[in-house]
Amino acid sequence: MSEPVFLRAARGETVEHLPVWFMRQAGRSLPEYRALRGTGSILDAIADPALSAEITLQPVRRYGVDAAILFSDIVTPYHAIGFGVDVEPGRGPVIAKPFTSSSDLERLRDITPDDYAHVMKTVELSVAALAETDTPLIGFAGAPFTVASYLVEGAPTREFGVIKTMMHSQPALFDSLMDRMVAITIPYLRAQVAHGARALQLFDSWAGSLTRDEYERFALPSTQRIFDGLKDLNVPTILFGVGTGELLDLMSRAGSSIVGIDWHVDLDEGRRRTKKPSQGNLDPARCLGGEAAAIQATREVLAKAGTDAGHIFNLGHGVLPSTDPTVLERVVQVVHEEGKAGVQ
Ligand code: CP3
Repeated sequence: MSEPVFLRAARGETVEHLPVWFMRQAGRSLPEYRALRGTGSILDAIADPALSAEITLQPVRRYGVDAAILFSDIVTPYHAIGFGVDVEPGRGPVIAKPFTSSSDLERLRDITPDDYAHVMKTVELSVAALAETDTPLIGFAGAPFTVASYLVEGAPTREFGVIKTMMHSQPALFDSLMDRMVAITIPYLRAQVAHGARALQLFDSWAGSLTRDEYERFALPSTQRIFDGLKDLNVPTILFGVGTGELLDLMSRAGSSIVGIDWHVDLDEGRRRTKKPSQGNLDPARCLGGEAAAIQATREVLAKAGTDAGHIFNLGHGVLPSTDPTVLERVVQVVHEEGKAGVQ
């Protein structure tokens, strides 16, 4: 039997239909997610493999997407090593004692298989259930800069003032922080593949807050080391960030096989900048205005995607919580029926 279309498109091969999945498809807008999840912390849900595997599968059943993404969070490994992370509903990750000085490096100890055993159990349960339809599971982690923005700022930020100050005034401390995060991220991602994930995405969601010089000096090296540390696994890897139009050529040098393109950039222009297989880039806000509007927006993206092989349809960022799931069902149908990129 041939490999799933998602994996073949990721390798730049031709496919029977254009593959599609949605960032943040697990959770958020699904009523069946809210019913299952209850009101506890998302970190408690992540600690429960049976629950997390079920949440991983819900969007695959509902939407008929071509890939599942592990239900977890970018702060999971740091929570697991006891850094003191919580995730506040409606707000995001908050840190009890933010990273401020070299003495905090000790709190970023190496991660062990015991620390992430619950996540790997979720991977195994999800993969076993996905075998029936041969749907690949995408594993993921946060990229060092984006996760560091939470660890250093202590909470979600729009300005990135604390972390940018640290970069520029204490570059050696910032580099040591990146070193610790690379050391945690590589074994954590490798373990996901060892337990059955068939692709990996690195979320550098907030990289777009950096200038080109800052990205090249402070974010690209750690990102490159992570993809170097995954190379021998031979699975497709995706690097994604929001507002990264001016960084795409630099991101393309990080070593992922695919670069995610956010909705601010036309796909054809984005692909010219990365010269690599692409993923994206429907504006998630255009899924809020009903089915007809979302279909129109989907067709605009499909037109920009063109006919060349090596594209995976996605949103340009995560599903917005108020999205009507029936709209996403229709988007999947339209992509499958009308997508031309690499379709024989
Ligand atoms: O794609 C998926 O649905 C898989 C699960 C997933 C979650 N977080 C679950 C989650 C993934 C891939 C993430 C990644 C993540 N987490 C990123 C990178 C992706 C992106 O959107 O840029 C970032 C920046 C985070 C940090 C984080 N965690 C934020 C900003 C929030 C939102 C807070 C909120 O309530 O709006 C979270 C919480 C979170 N992670 C939720 C989910 C489903 C929602 C809250 C909940 O259900 O408790």
